Amino acid sequence: MSQRALITGVTSYIGAHIAQQLLEKGWYVRGTVRTQAKGQWLHDTFKAGDRFETVEVKDVQKKELFTEAVKGRQVTQSHPRTSLIQESITNIDAILYSAPCHLNPTTREPYLRLPHPHQNIIITPIRPADADAIIETLNDTRVYDQLASIPHPYTREHAEEWIKLVRARSDELLQQLQGRSDDQPKVVDGCPVMTLREVKEDGTEVFIGDVTIARSSFMEIGNPDERARLRDENAARPNGDPEIVYMIGDYLAPSHHGHGIMTAAIRTLVHDWAVPRMGCRKILVNVRKGNIGSRRVFEKLDFKCKGVLEDHQELTAPGRAGGPKWSIEIFEWVYQARGGHRKMPRPHVGEGGASEVLKKRRKTVTKPAPTQRVAVIANFEQEGVMGLEGSGFLFQALVSLRTFEGSHMGVATSPTAVLSVVLDEAFKFHQNICPNRDITSACL
Ligand SMILES: CC(C)(COP(=O)(O)OP(=O)(O)OC[C@H]1O[C@@H](n2cnc3c(N)ncnc32)[C@H](O)[C@@H]1OP(=O)(O)O)[C@@H](O)C(=O)NCCC(=O)NCCS
Repeated sequence: MSQRALITGVTSYIGAHIAQQLLEKGWYVRGTVRTQAKGQWLHDTFKAGDRFETVEVKDVQKKELFTEAVKGRQVTQSHPRTSLIQESITNIDAILYSAPCHLNPTTREPYLRLPHPHQNIIITPIRPADADAIIETLNDTRVYDQLASIPHPYTREHAEEWIKLVRARSDELLQQLQGRSDDQPKVVDGCPVMTLREVKEDGTEVFIGDVTIARSSFMEIGNPDERARLRDENAARPNGDPEIVYMIGDYLAPSHHGHGIMTAAIRTLVHDWAVPRMGCRKILVNVRKGNIGSRRVFEKLDFKCKGVLEDHQELTAPGRAGGPKWSIEIFEWVYQARGGHRKMPRPHVGEGGASEVLKKRRKTVTKPAPTQRVAVIANFEQEGVMGLEGSGFLFQALVSLRTFEGSHMGVATSPTAVLSVVLDEAFKFHQNICPNRDITSACL
């Protein structure tokens, strides 16, 4: 039996790329479009003959409208809430769940996953059990020597207090997000995930650092009155105000320095979360002069150095006061809208609209390979559990495709409304097919 894919929302940036990848691998692809006219450019681009077809579905969430798209697939059972999902996954081999903010089926925590080659690193909420690792990392001179606000020594009390504070903030954000309206994603003032973890082969997750985005406190402003004025003004702006200036704080366990992890983590945080979900448009960061690693991270992400302030920052944290003032370099990143748009550079995914990129990448379509059926359910109208900006998800989807070439796989995103159903179904289904992999590691 030939490989078959069903892609909902195939005209989207992500859907189109997934379709192209599958066609290049010799699969049959059926995509849903809202109108056939909208899908015509894909037929023109793919030139895949009968191996690519589009089916008009005005609303993929309406069962009766979706039927045509899944025609030919065996319906196992009908349940008011899950029938559509079950129909979609019938006769397929496995489902991968992929979206910018995933929901871990075991812990039910949201998380962001870094793209290739760091797929084994996720960003999650902080956990009480992180205290030991945080204490160890923040007492390492290679780390605290570059962080002005960290007390020294960094004690268990410091860690526990910090975890409580950050956890409460994360919970608050998650609560705000749960209250979102389905047709308009809520703009929030922070990211509920900030703790970097390495997922080991056996599934254990090891704390490796932190990346946090918050409204700027303008530490680069020397005059305390002016600093307070700017800070208050910034704090008073409503969520999503493009004038808000954000700052980023980050550190990584020295064992993991120099592998590109923090660059990937900040890129993911900004593009998969801060831009689409916070409306973040401007970030200012202060880097201690001589902190080559951090300087390099921001340079790689297209931050521009705005200047150096010599002997500027006084250290006031417990155990740190009294030393010489730090010289700091100021780096700025400003979002540029699509068109003249320039995102933080991504090493593996091209910029530009779907049609443009696809044209560049078009290759000869190969003969279909005889394997089992695969369904790809991607790009439902409501994006992921907490929204997505295309390219982050696209990247993960493509990585998944590459990783699972030759094995049986699919990709799924879902509207918030059916997310848990999808996850549960996908998880069960996947367990049956590949009992040694859980749905999280399947995304690796
Ligand atoms: C800054 C920090 C987060 C960077 O994380 P990371 O994952 O190691 O960063 P990346 O690997 O993505 O990038 C680091 C870059 O700096 C380069 N670099 C690091 N130290 C360097 C040195 N001494 N000389 C030259 N280049 C150096 C690395 O080679 C790499 O650049 P490359 O990709 O061009 O080779 C990490 O070093 C850290 O935790 N430092 C202590 C805390 C800190 O400084 N936080 C930031 C406060 S502003």
